[in-house]
Amino acid sequence: MKKILAYISAIILTVILVVVGFTFRQVQQQKSTLVNDLQYRTSLLADSFKESIRTPYLSGTTTSVQAVLDKFAGRERLLGLAVYDNRGGLFAMSVGLPQNLVENNNIPEKAMDANSVSSDFSDLNGMSVYVLASPLSQDSKVIGALSVFQRADYIDDNISEIWKTNLLRLLLQALLFSVAIVIIFNWVIYRPIKHLAEAIRQARSGKTGNESDIQKGNSFFKPIVAEISKITRSLVLARNSASEEARMRLQELDSPWTAERLKEFFKAYFKDRQIFVVSNREPYIHRKIKNETVWVVPPSGMVTALEPIMEACGGMWLAHGSGDADKQTVNNQDKIEVPPDEPKYTLKRIWLSEKEIKGYYIGFSNEALWPLCHLAHTRPIFRKEDWTTYRKVNGKFAESLLAEIKDVQRPIILIQDYHFALLPEMIKKARPDAEIGLFWHIPWPSAEVFSICPWRKDILNGMLGADVLGFHTQQHCNNFMETVGKEIESLVDLEKFSVTHNGHSTFIKPFPISVAFTNGAHEDDKPESEVLKNLKLKSKILGIGIDRLDYTKGILERLKGLEFFFDLHPEFKGQFTFLQIAPPSREGVEKYQKFNDEVTHEVERINEKFEDNSWKPIILLKKHHTHDEIYPLYRAAQVCLVTSLSDGMNLVAKEFVSARNDEAGVLILSQFTGAARDLKGALIINPYSAEETAEAIFKAINMPPSEQHRRMKKMRESVRDYNVYRWAAEFLGSINRLD
Ligand code: F6P
Repeated sequence: MKKILAYISAIILTVILVVVGFTFRQVQQQKSTLVNDLQYRTSLLADSFKESIRTPYLSGTTTSVQAVLDKFAGRERLLGLAVYDNRGGLFAMSVGLPQNLVENNNIPEKAMDANSVSSDFSDLNGMSVYVLASPLSQDSKVIGALSVFQRADYIDDNISEIWKTNLLRLLLQALLFSVAIVIIFNWVIYRPIKHLAEAIRQARSGKTGNESDIQKGNSFFKPIVAEISKITRSLVLARNSASEEARMRLQELDSPWTAERLKEFFKAYFKDRQIFVVSNREPYIHRKIKNETVWVVPPSGMVTALEPIMEACGGMWLAHGSGDADKQTVNNQDKIEVPPDEPKYTLKRIWLSEKEIKGYYIGFSNEALWPLCHLAHTRPIFRKEDWTTYRKVNGKFAESLLAEIKDVQRPIILIQDYHFALLPEMIKKARPDAEIGLFWHIPWPSAEVFSICPWRKDILNGMLGADVLGFHTQQHCNNFMETVGKEIESLVDLEKFSVTHNGHSTFIKPFPISVAFTNGAHEDDKPESEVLKNLKLKSKILGIGIDRLDYTKGILERLKGLEFFFDLHPEFKGQFTFLQIAPPSREGVEKYQKFNDEVTHEVERINEKFEDNSWKPIILLKKHHTHDEIYPLYRAAQVCLVTSLSDGMNLVAKEFVSARNDEAGVLILSQFTGAARDLKGALIINPYSAEETAEAIFKAINMPPSEQHRRMKKMRESVRDYNVYRWAAEFLGSINRLD
């Protein structure tokens, strides 16, 4: 719209310039006509006055000359007359003629010197006066001069009148012109294009739009409209056959899971039931950047996994609205259709106060539960006030969700992560018919570790409100069962892997989360060479690490491993560069702030130790990168390092594998990630050992292509077979089997 306004303004500006130009010309012409006319009339007057004053002047009597002058002065625009002797001295002047006007001009002298008429404009207290002097002569000898003073201010008045009228006319024209342009633009271009865009969008998102929608508008775009109608029709047909194929594939256990297949699976097993996802982190964040509202996808494994599912199945996602432009982009029910450029489901944003964020997110979620569940040797901080706020915020989300499912029968609720341990019980109590799955995206510690939490029983009770409780690995499920057995009076069934508590059963199952497996094809991604050029990377071998700046990711340990590698193998100086992409995370948490500084210092220290004029061993980019930016980097890297100290799954490892359709590259993977159980082709390491890490880097760099190929192929098969659609189907399937 801004551009359109700019175009309209440019047209109007051009019109204004043209009109002003023409007016200027008209004014010039009019002025010269008026001046010519004034000159002509004045010189006629001067000639006739000269005749009348000749005799009295020759007689030398001032009074008789004066009498003649007074007789003519004051008529129409004639301001007065004056007679000068042949030395330029004033001889006589008509009454009322201002003295300074008569004396302060040299026009009579000029006329006498040249013995011809001389004239000019003079100023009388801001009024323009035309002065014309004509020589008086006798026997070809100049004997004096007569000056005629005419008012000329009417010329200026006339000119400014022309400007005024023309500018007023111009303003009116510009106004009418703009209104006409806007109306024409709206009817002829904007509305038909809007209808077209809406129809295409509907066709893209799988909704069969009304064909007449496409035809709406006028005949101006008829040829394009006809073509687009055909394209949207073929799109609908293609979509129908894809979903038919997916329906048939439902029975074939071996065929790969796709978005279409998941959609068909959902339709077949859940019919018209609706999905509601609840998470802390929202899938799309709106931000204000330089007066423009933009949206970003946050760095979150949970979002990476859930987003394709919501796109496939539709429904509603409730999450904390954390962007500074989030409020401006929702409707009056705090909802927005997403993805913003191709809406497929509804995002409902829930607003939290600073105090709530501090207690629930920074405090209890990230300073208590996160370090409690991750074995990364960071002490959890349990504050009573954080716990109270955590409970309150869980209640706030429960209230909002309950309002949304008020008229929905047997809703399917998928609760995500450790931010909402209490939510399942809250919902189940209010809506026993709701089927609730809780997926815990982070590890579950041993019973002993968990026992230090002062509110452990409340947390377990809250979680056991879910019908299905998912973890990434069997080990985490086992830990949870052990914890429940130790902490809560309940029936723990190790055969069915269920816990029955207060008459309600919860099934505990591993669902190793995954990625969509794009097979290397990623929308809009750039060629690797271009990306490396942009990064000014010159060395032959690239290593890559992509992690949120989180102490559980083992970034400091990885840096130690790299230092050890260059100490052991100085021949790789200038040959191998490690690129660490580390978007800042949870910046409100003190531990994360310190960690951020530690990583920066460590990178600087190692770089100073090994760098030369043209090469640095480590490049640290502390900036969020989109998937489109990351995928070419995955493909350009010889080795990807995932060295988490404790990680539920780690989707970076699976993304790297998914990006490598060339079946090359080596993954170095920490034994403490859930992914290490799925990706058997990786070089598995203990990240606490710098020696092991360095050795693995050396092995990866020197690995023969055939071995890379064998390992990568194996890992790709695993990710392709168990992609995120299958993860969702199994998780949803386990909820469905409850009936
Ligand atoms: O994957 C685990 C997780 O805690 C997600 O729930 C979360 O979105 C992600 O890590 C990133 O953390 P945050 O949302 O706190 O930035």
